[in-house]
Amino acid sequence: MSRAAAGSRDAATGATPVDQDHDDRVTVEVRLRASAWAGHLAEQTATGLRDRPPWTPPVWFYDQVGSELFDRITRLEEYYPTRAERSILAERAGTIAALSGAETLAELGSGTSDKTVLLLDALERRGTLRRVVPFDVSEEVLRDAAATIARRHDGVAVHAVVGDFHEHLGALPTDGPCLLAFLGSTIGNLDAAERRRFLSSVRSTLDGDDRFLLGTDLVKDRTRLVSAYDDAQGVTARFNLNALAVMNRELGGDFELAAWRHRAVFDEEFQRIEMHVVAQEDQAVRLEALDLDLEVAAAGWIRTEISTKFTADQVERELTGAGLEPVDSWTDERGDFLLTLARPS
Ligand code: SAH
Ligand code: AVI
Repeated sequence: MSRAAAGSRDAATGATPVDQDHDDRVTVEVRLRASAWAGHLAEQTATGLRDRPPWTPPVWFYDQVGSELFDRITRLEEYYPTRAERSILAERAGTIAALSGAETLAELGSGTSDKTVLLLDALERRGTLRRVVPFDVSEEVLRDAAATIARRHDGVAVHAVVGDFHEHLGALPTDGPCLLAFLGSTIGNLDAAERRRFLSSVRSTLDGDDRFLLGTDLVKDRTRLVSAYDDAQGVTARFNLNALAVMNRELGGDFELAAWRHRAVFDEEFQRIEMHVVAQEDQAVRLEALDLDLEVAAAGWIRTEISTKFTADQVERELTGAGLEPVDSWTDERGDFLLTLARPS
């Protein structure tokens, strides 16, 4: 990915340099080693494409172009989750800040850190906040977000981490109370086994005075769900097909983009939206870096993303099962989205 080629990391030695960026209050710690990350993604993609039905990991969406498209998605009429979560934060950030008393605000899969600013302001108003830790695989987006936070907030240090939240939670600071946020229902992009593993590694990184803030999208009317992932302007379709362009670039692929169509369906068994790319006619695709040939017949498809929708009970069960005890939870006016604050039990 373009991010894999960027920055000053040392792919040969696996060193994890910390850069000084823009301002002496911003540090960027690069935990992703280019070669290891590329190898890991290649292996996962090869496994997925050999599976039936074939699937690809969602991380391919988030190159620079895909991150910009995601940003447009969050402003679409049909895509309610961002607005719903922002409205909860606007109302409850003060309460969350008071309940957490955090000195550090860390955010996994932080992207542009847009909504995080509400938490940041509330923690700053309480006078406890010393440090912000945005954490993302997408290096360019992360660097921009870190610089924006530093410009807007004079009194805090920004320690950005370029990392994989499945692998590098050890990079989170351990001194002082921390509020660890995982917003946007990105947890819904993990399947049940991945969620179990992820939540228990979150639990292992938290100390007694740390808190975990989880955003989850709730099950609702199927028509609204499907249109959130299949908008009238076709932005989500471009976001989806961009993943094929990224694989072409990063894996030496020859997906012919015009031959694939975006589709979003709701899977009742797993209570999740699935995004597919559907072949318009028989396709033979070669991915050189994987030494893999893939044949997909007309109307055949590849699953590029799952986006699980939850009930409040399910969120509580999954947190409790991982050793995280809900302290409080909040929804928006329409009951579309849920924010849960939890502590280690
Ligand atoms: N939290 C933001 C962005 C959500 S988009 C919001 O609520 O709007 C999902 C983000 O997670 C992207 O920025 C993507 O780069 C990041 N991401 C996806 N997989 C990741 C992984 N394995 N480790 C770290 N970040 C990841
Ligand atoms: C980042 N993630 C929570 C988004 C979602 O809703 O599952 C990604 C997305 N895919 C299509 N639209 C948005």
